[in-house]
Amino acid sequence: MASVMNSSHIRIRLQKNLKFFFFFSALPPPSLFPSKLLSIPTTKPSNLAHFVAQNDIVTPVQTPHTNSSAKHNESPFQGLECVMAGYMFGKKKATQVAQAVWKNVVRKGDTVIDATCGNGYDTLAMLRLIADDTRRGRVYAMDLQKDAIESTSSLLERSVSADERELVELYSMCHTKMEELIPHGDVVRLVAFNLGYLPGGDKKIQTESETTLLALQAAERIVGRGGLISIVAYVGHSGGREEFEIVQSFAAGLAVDSWVCCKLQMLNRPFAPVLVLLYKK
Ligand SMILES: C[S@@+](CC[C@H](N)C(=O)[O-])C[C@H]1O[C@@H](n2cnc3c(N)ncnc32)[C@H](O)[C@@H]1O
Repeated sequence: MASVMNSSHIRIRLQKNLKFFFFFSALPPPSLFPSKLLSIPTTKPSNLAHFVAQNDIVTPVQTPHTNSSAKHNESPFQGLECVMAGYMFGKKKATQVAQAVWKNVVRKGDTVIDATCGNGYDTLAMLRLIADDTRRGRVYAMDLQKDAIESTSSLLERSVSADERELVELYSMCHTKMEELIPHGDVVRLVAFNLGYLPGGDKKIQTESETTLLALQAAERIVGRGGLISIVAYVGHSGGREEFEIVQSFAAGLAVDSWVCCKLQMLNRPFAPVLVLLYKK
């Protein structure tokens, strides 16, 4: 657990201090406070608008409008017909729709947050959106579980160059504390939540309504204009439906003049993951 960083290392922060137990006390005690810097050597550089269809709904709470901050000058929901139809017909996952929206919002050099990095697929997608030669962009990725941090680290090692990995900071911590990671003055373009449990991991360790709400409130404070909070919610597991309801209430309460809030949900597949998108105008 060295506290040194250099160009061939991925930065990982581990917690100390406050203990935080999820579900049962035998779980590793992740903290709410990131503190200790860890580095893992990396050896192998390599490289909505209104939309209603039968059985499906996309429910905007507010109507999107042109925003000069949006990447393509139009709505962040532009050009999504294919991926949305894919989702509706069971050929695309909600996470793929989410990533397609990110492409419309995130620019090279941006600061973005993966609030639940898990196995790293979302982190990798974000890294590809922000990385360029200026090396200004950053992905702050976090997870309660060390296994998830290691899994993400390993995926990055296999997928991108050492230079690109340097743009990712991995933290073993609760996402309620995400604000502490962002340097003063930095504007966050995207905060992404992929709720639930780690695929292939302990299903008892999952996101929980109370902390998810706190993390959403933190995300609301740090996302800049033209930025997005993206949430994939799973309603099929215990506690998932309640958590989704919390996410919905949070979204419905955001100010109409500042936020466009919508969801993509299947009506006749009640356990299908739901995508909630909160775009700051
Ligand atoms: C569905 S997985 C995320 C998948 C991931 N985005 C990917 O691309 O592989 C949900 C993750 O959230 C993590 N998690 C649960 N509660 C958390 C919390 N309070 N803070 C940060 N991560 C949390 C879990 O450990 C789990 O790895």
